[in-house]
Amino acid sequence: MNTKPLAIVILAAGKGTRMQSPLPKVLHSLAGRPMIGWLLETVQALAPEKVIVVIGPDMPELEAAVQPFQTVVQKDRNGTAGAVKCALPLLEGFEGDVLVLLGDTPLVSLTTLKNLTAQHAGLSVLSVILPDPCGYGRIVRGHHGVQIIEEKDASAQERMICEVNTGVFCIDGKRIKGWIEQVDNKNVQGEYYITDLPKIAQGEGTGTHVYSTHDFCEVRGCNTLADLAMLEQTLQNRLRKQAMEAGVRILDPSSVYLWHDTQIAPGVVIEPSVFFGPGVVVESGVHIKAFSHIEGAHIKAGASVGPFARIRPETQIGAGARIGNFVEVKKSSIGAGAKINHLAYVGDTIMGADVNFSCGAITVNYDGFNKHQTVIGDGAMIGSNVSLVAPVTVGQGAFVAAGSTITETVPADSLSIERGSTRIIQGWSAKNRGIKAARKK
Ligand code: UD1
Ligand code: CA
Repeated sequence: MNTKPLAIVILAAGKGTRMQSPLPKVLHSLAGRPMIGWLLETVQALAPEKVIVVIGPDMPELEAAVQPFQTVVQKDRNGTAGAVKCALPLLEGFEGDVLVLLGDTPLVSLTTLKNLTAQHAGLSVLSVILPDPCGYGRIVRGHHGVQIIEEKDASAQERMICEVNTGVFCIDGKRIKGWIEQVDNKNVQGEYYITDLPKIAQGEGTGTHVYSTHDFCEVRGCNTLADLAMLEQTLQNRLRKQAMEAGVRILDPSSVYLWHDTQIAPGVVIEPSVFFGPGVVVESGVHIKAFSHIEGAHIKAGASVGPFARIRPETQIGAGARIGNFVEVKKSSIGAGAKINHLAYVGDTIMGADVNFSCGAITVNYDGFNKHQTVIGDGAMIGSNVSLVAPVTVGQGAFVAAGSTITETVPADSLSIERGSTRIIQGWSAKNRGIKAARKK
């Protein structure tokens, strides 16, 4: 078992032209977190002595994103060996193993990396067998040991090989410099390939150890937005599996989207087609019904949300509260046991416990310039189609009659009603029908 100290080099200088986006490739996010963030989290669990990220010359946002890890700029993007070469000065005197990872292969698992490094001596590469190896470097096992041939340099026969290079290498820190310096750019792309190392090491009598993973999903590279969508799927599967293993009931996992920081307690039930954005905490016994969209919210024990609810940032839903269909809640705190069951908007509101906020009622929180607050006391009853024009306060236990537009303080336990009085004209409708019918003839 190999227990040498470890240095990690992550190659992330590529522009990611095939992504058709100005954002550096490794800053594209998966479950709301840049892909490089996932990789950095995984490698940290290997307790490395050093982590070095090789970035491009015009990537200040990437440099900031990988803080506090060290970055080195590859001025001339001349290939993966060129990228490793840029990190060598920072590895001067390091005698452990150097694990090289590709920033665009962010979901490689900790177990796989541990297995690769544990069995390593000299030079190791992580491979995988693909049904469609198109685009990847092929692992060629010949009489003279292992070689990696890039697709563009491969013969028709070599292209038939389905075992490919995942891009993950483990390299003896004492020999990495000598080997990298021997790499040339005599290939179809005119680049310095890290994949030339097996041939170079073989020339010095060191064979390459190939460690193969069976899980293609963890080593899928991201070159296009279609690849990014596949990686997202892999990651979402992982997150949902973790949640289910921890006791969350997800009725239709493939339709539930989780953010990297979503916290869901055991015993929560999630119906199909629910989206969790950043900063959501869901306590035990909560039921999230179908087609709900939730961001930046703390949903307390036993509450129910949806179907078709939209919970926006800075919201707290109290224990046992019920948020029903077509209800939007923004920057509000909803008291325990409160009910907002249908077709309502609640924004910038402090709502007490056991309030009933009826169908079609809204808080009018925006005057065209500023947002204003609504405060509703415990046990208040807000009737249907009420508009609470903020800033406004409704006292505890008050009753606001349906259809009212409230612009002043409603005292506790009072009734407030603001409506035109009803006028009844007997027989008007029947007479009207008669006139219309006569005209049609
Ligand atoms: C690379 C491998 C290929 C492997 C595949 C796995 C080489 C030559 N090819 O191909 O064998 O099957 O990954 O996904 O290594 N990068 C730099 N500087 C550079 C060039 C690339 O930092 O000058 C970084 C990129 O940011 C990227 C990674 O290296 O994160 C891989 O580069 P990419 O151009 O995507 O290589 P592939 O063609 O996918
Ligand atoms: Ca790639």
